[in-house]
Amino acid sequence: MARPMSGKAVGNDAERVRAAGAALDEVRSGMKLGLGSGRTAHHFVRLLGARVRDGLSIVGVPTSETTAQLAKAEGIPLATLDDHPALDLTVDGADEIDRAFRLIKGGGGALLREKIVASASARMVVIVDAGKLVDTLGAFPLPIEVTPFGLGATRLAIETAAGRLGLTGELVLRIRDDQPFLTDGGHHILDASFGRIPDPEALSTALSAIPGVMEHGLFLNMASVAIVGREDDVERLTR
Ligand code: 5RP
Repeated sequence: MARPMSGKAVGNDAERVRAAGAALDEVRSGMKLGLGSGRTAHHFVRLLGARVRDGLSIVGVPTSETTAQLAKAEGIPLATLDDHPALDLTVDGADEIDRAFRLIKGGGGALLREKIVASASARMVVIVDAGKLVDTLGAFPLPIEVTPFGLGATRLAIETAAGRLGLTGELVLRIRDDQPFLTDGGHHILDASFGRIPDPEALSTALSAIPGVMEHGLFLNMASVAIVGREDDVERLTR
């Protein structure tokens, strides 16, 4: 079964802007910065662009083509991980975050590049609206980036691996414009509706062992700071 790209919660844009604005405090002149994808990360890129135009000196490594276009339009100097293999900081959004700073990401389909960039960064700061905070991950369908080759076999392998962990739920091929969605890397996305993921570490290990899985949206042990936009203020949580 397939589903359109409409899975993201509407959320609260003022909270997203507030979280993005507060993340500017994490930025220092001279930093090499990973630039995330999605609505909240794009607010951050716009606000960062204004600082750059005011004289802030940073270089950005975008996590998606969309973010690259936006950052370029904002006048942010861009580089790649080939130019700068080690970054100081990545600022990115998330679809869910739990109390142990474990994340589900990939609602926008950029998870592979997002994970590569975050892993290359000394620190990852997550910016979210308050609706993203959860007790247990999994209400948001877990995005799993897969190679188009052997899709049926990869799907079966994922179902089997998840089943061994007691997880059941539909795996839905993500659709955009009536076609299977293609990531920037030319892969498809299966959105896994497990409902609850009580042991994200075990699921992460199991998914990573499947050859057709390029990456999955569980970001574990990566974020050290979470900035949560609320109705009237922002909360900065540290791990
Ligand atoms: C894109 C992502 C985004 O960070 C995530 O989907 C959150 O996006 P938004 O800020 O629009 O809610 O992982 O792949």
